[in-house]
Amino acid sequence: MSQLEIRNLHVSIEDKEILKGLDLTVEQGKVHAIMGPNGTGKSTLAYTLMGHPNYTVTGGEVIFKGQNILELEPDERSRLGMFLAFQYPVAIPGVTVANFLRTAMNARRRAINPEDKGMPIPEFRKFLKEKMELLKMDHAFAGRYLNDGFSGGEKKRAEILQMAALKPEIAILDETDSGLDIDALRIVAEGVNALSGSELGVLVITHYQRLLNYIKPDYVHIMLDGRIVESGGPDLALHLEEQGYDWVREKYEEVA
Ligand SMILES: Nc1ncnc2c1ncn2[C@@H]1O[C@H](COP(=O)(O)OP(=O)(O)O)[C@@H](O)[C@H]1O
Ligand SMILES: [Mg+2]
Repeated sequence: MSQLEIRNLHVSIEDKEILKGLDLTVEQGKVHAIMGPNGTGKSTLAYTLMGHPNYTVTGGEVIFKGQNILELEPDERSRLGMFLAFQYPVAIPGVTVANFLRTAMNARRRAINPEDKGMPIPEFRKFLKEKMELLKMDHAFAGRYLNDGFSGGEKKRAEILQMAALKPEIAILDETDSGLDIDALRIVAEGVNALSGSELGVLVITHYQRLLNYIKPDYVHIMLDGRIVESGGPDLALHLEEQGYDWVREKYEEVA
């Protein structure tokens, strides 16, 4: 079983420390949710895990399959089995969803087995059809150019489809996008539920309590001021829904 181990992670943006010693382990087969007030560094964590150049790691490590992934390029992280939503947010006119998925899938297969010749096209068509049915997607979607004029919900579906094609062992989803409506949240949740199982570990980062009405996390963590301060089961999300974050702030924020 692979797991993602974040150990004492410190990250700065433009010399300002945002993550201040974050520890978290996400196991394959489990769904972990991170919740927290705005500005606590949730997106910073997601961008750091995907290797965004603006985020400077000043301490700590992130171990996956015996490697410190912070030393790897984003595409190497992907081939190792990490899926990072928002890794391909840009529109790629001229590249269809189907072609993109097939290229990504074959790169991942070659990373696992250098001898792999790629999935034969008929098999790929069958795979795509099955996954699109599972995700209740219109077949025509596969022939559209990636993210070109996609609505928020369509981008989310494309992302989930990428997840199905890449078969990651760990998926990290940052649902910070304020443009996400309830339908898009539901698409993400249904996709994650349809794909999750003993082989996929998921880290969902969200400030929407309601997302967790659809995705059932095994563990919920509360983040405050660059650290995980509380961890618990799904009941912790319910508690937050009723009580908000004030009690967390009172318990953990230093008196200025
Ligand atoms: N590109 C940036 N440049 C400077 N400060 C940033 C940048 N991005 C985020 N920050 C700051 O980092 C802190 C954490 O932001 P973020 O990780 O987006 O929090 P969250 O996702 O929890 O709302 C905030 O204080 C924010 O203002
Ligand atoms: Mg955010």
